[in-house]
Amino acid sequence: MKGEIEVNGAKNSALKILSALVLSKEKCRITNFPFIEDTRRMLEILEDLGVRIFIDEKNKTVEADPSSISKTELNETLVKKLRSSMVISGPILSRFGKLRMPYPGGCVIGKRPIDMFLDGYQKFGAEIAWDEQGFTLTAKEGKLTGAHIFFPKVTVTGTETMMMTAVLAEGKTVLENAAMEPEIVELANYLMRCGAKIKGAGTSTIEIEGVDEISGGEFYVIPDRIETGTFVMMGLVTGSEIKITNCIPKHLGAVLPILEKSGAKLEVGEDYIITKESKLVANSVTTHEYPGFATDLQSPYTLLMTQAEGLSIIHETIFEGRLFFTDQLNTMGANIIMCDPHRVVVSGPTKLYGKRLTSPDLRAGITMILAGMIAEGKTVIDNIYQIDRGYEHIEKRLQALGADIKRVKEK
Ligand code: EPU
Repeated sequence: MKGEIEVNGAKNSALKILSALVLSKEKCRITNFPFIEDTRRMLEILEDLGVRIFIDEKNKTVEADPSSISKTELNETLVKKLRSSMVISGPILSRFGKLRMPYPGGCVIGKRPIDMFLDGYQKFGAEIAWDEQGFTLTAKEGKLTGAHIFFPKVTVTGTETMMMTAVLAEGKTVLENAAMEPEIVELANYLMRCGAKIKGAGTSTIEIEGVDEISGGEFYVIPDRIETGTFVMMGLVTGSEIKITNCIPKHLGAVLPILEKSGAKLEVGEDYIITKESKLVANSVTTHEYPGFATDLQSPYTLLMTQAEGLSIIHETIFEGRLFFTDQLNTMGANIIMCDPHRVVVSGPTKLYGKRLTSPDLRAGITMILAGMIAEGKTVIDNIYQIDRGYEHIEKRLQALGADIKRVKEK
């Protein structure tokens, strides 16, 4: 493959701004918006609540007018399709003082606990009533009060949701052991431009002083650091010189130093990365919260290690179940041994052969595409909705680089 590929707006930033806009009665205009399945699901949730949405796909722009929100009950069918729909629960509760929400759904790694969200809401003074279908939250006297929350575990959406919830709560909120992802900093910056009072986003302690209301605003979605890292690994695993543009390399944290230690030859600029032909060597990795090695890049890295000389251990610390896709790489000829659900040993290099695979989740799915590119023969991937959740028009963008890939069945 050869050429340039542009990185799109970050899924995990766009999803949060779509939730944050519910805090205000005024319009929010979002540019560099990624039109992927997950953000479309969130737009459907907003429309169902009564938010007026104006889409300009050609200019990657979405405008949302939340002045007409008519209900505080989330639609079950929609919520079940998107596990991260939990992030909108805080802003609705905080602005309207009540919320009814079914339990969220998700992918195979997505049946995740929501205890830190519910514990947090109780600290803000909300009462919770559970039943089999979902839960109802009610703020005492219609208004939340500031809270002191020490997250027992670092949680990205938990941090973002509690930060948004605190914006309209009365008094001061302190979040400790908070996540530090760049998307959290972007979200805090947007909220501050709209009148929120937030200190410390991007560090492990965030302080928020509640305000009565916030305005609308404009938000530019930062380039997706996971898409960036995926494309870097695509260049390396296929041995191609690819220029990845419109990205922020410094948002990759530990990923670039680890890739360099694995033998990757990279030219890194302010807003681009060029991959060069490299001799890959085994290098073990442990996933970690930002700025550590992102769990969302663990699957393409595992594939990369199947092409590296030697033995490496991949230790997935964030999500159980995120290594099970390695079974499918083994059917292609990889030599990966699972020690336990959190660790595999990869022995490389191995030649891969085309197979029929099923994408279990978004990141394993894109990894299967990369595996198919280097495998001898044809690879067919089923359940590509999972890939469309996070990568826009992926086949067209890869065809432009010279990949032999096509969508067999239109959506
Ligand atoms: N957890 C709990 N209780 C909770 C919430 C989380 O025990 O109430 C646990 C999780 O089970 C996990 C750990 O805490 O073991 C950390 O999970 P976290 O809450 O940080 O994950 P998340 O916020 O649900 C976000 C991204 C993920 C990304 C993780 C880790 C969004 C929408 N999702 O998930 O992105 O993998 O942070 O960085 O921002 C992806 O894009 O493919 C994706 C899965």
